Amino acid sequence: MDKRYYLSLIIGIVLCSAAPLWLYYLSIDQSTIEAERKTVYHFEKVPGPIQPIPRKMEIDTRWVSLGKALFITPLLSKNNTISCSSCHLIDFGGDDGFPVSTGINNAKGVRNSPTVLNSSFSFRQFWDGRASSLSEQISGPVHNPVEMGSSWAEIIRKLKSDSYFNKSFRALDPQGVTRENIVKAITIFEESLITPNAPIDRYLLGDSNALTEQQQRGLIHFTNHGCTTCHQGVNIGGNMYQKLGRINTIPEILVEDLGKYELTKQEQDRNVFKVPSLRNVADTSPYFHNGAVDNLPQAVRIMASSQLGRDLPEDEIEDIVALLHAFSSKVIEVQ
Ligand code: HEC
Ligand code: HEC
Repeated sequence: MDKRYYLSLIIGIVLCSAAPLWLYYLSIDQSTIEAERKTVYHFEKVPGPIQPIPRKMEIDTRWVSLGKALFITPLLSKNNTISCSSCHLIDFGGDDGFPVSTGINNAKGVRNSPTVLNSSFSFRQFWDGRASSLSEQISGPVHNPVEMGSSWAEIIRKLKSDSYFNKSFRALDPQGVTRENIVKAITIFEESLITPNAPIDRYLLGDSNALTEQQQRGLIHFTNHGCTTCHQGVNIGGNMYQKLGRINTIPEILVEDLGKYELTKQEQDRNVFKVPSLRNVADTSPYFHNGAVDNLPQAVRIMASSQLGRDLPEDEIEDIVALLHAFSSKVIEVQ
């Protein structure tokens, strides 16, 4: 009897003194639930400079759907004529196929629309890397007078008076339509736009038949000539800045836009651009920051000469171009 009394007393004391621990545990649990809403990619590391796109990810599909609706609605533009998808066609490479883009009132921009596919793996956004993240990037096209020419106040007003958007935002957050939630939804949608299982990825992950013989020769040239010093990582690009014309002068058609220099006016930034991703590059002609080159063989010749100081024989150019086709795949289905 005595023993049992002491035992339950001790257990009682232990449980009570552990109360703060329980509360702490509960609070951790909640923050884990919150963190699970963030997109998580399951990267698979392989030897070598090029890395496969993850085949698995965890993503909040409710925000993906809302983000997709925002991406394709013209309500984000001043006169309701242009959507993000006017210049970034998700099913056709994620770009618009023109040298430079056309915004509201037929206004022409000065730069080529890059693909939005896999852009969440790039270290910065835009050709000159001026946005540090996808969520920072969005303000650009929304305000740009030659793109959507709108403002957050105007967009929030229009989305609030649209019954679909008003309801959908409220269903995900009691705050409803806010600038933060618009940016969050579009960002999460963009995070879902990844293209795993390209032939190059299957090859890197062990399927030696995934590349044709010509593509395998192309991969050897691509690596041995040093394309991979710049085009590397998961996005085969998108993880550093480099000077266009690092070794040899660049063709006249590419000299006008000075890239990062236009922002910083620092001499060392003259003609410096973010190294673009070569993912899906076979589907995103025309090429370079101003879309001045409309075919891959020519783009590769320019790269070999201006970036590596090499005049490659035609058969090697062809092999490399064949390899570039192996970088294409379809957007993963998440819903
Ligand atoms: C009128 C055409 C147009 C519209 C509309 C447009 N974009 Fe773009 N987008 C571009 C161009 C052109 C660039 C490159 C600009 C630069 O680098 O200076 C770009 C760049 C981007 C990038 C950076 C990609 C990279 O690799 O650097 C992302 C992401 C993007 N746009 C997403 C969006 C989203 C989201 C919207 C809608 C809110 C949108 N765009 C609307 C033309 C457009
Ligand atoms: C020193 C770094 C560097 C090296 C080496 C390099 N590139 Fe590039 N590449 C860049 C940069 C920077 C750009 C963007 C230039 C621009 O548009 O202003 C680019 C653009 C490209 C493009 C156009 C992409 C697009 O979407 O428009 C292709 C294709 C390309 N490179 C292929 C290659 C190939 C193939 C090699 C090897 C023969 C190579 N690159 C070597 C830095 C490099």
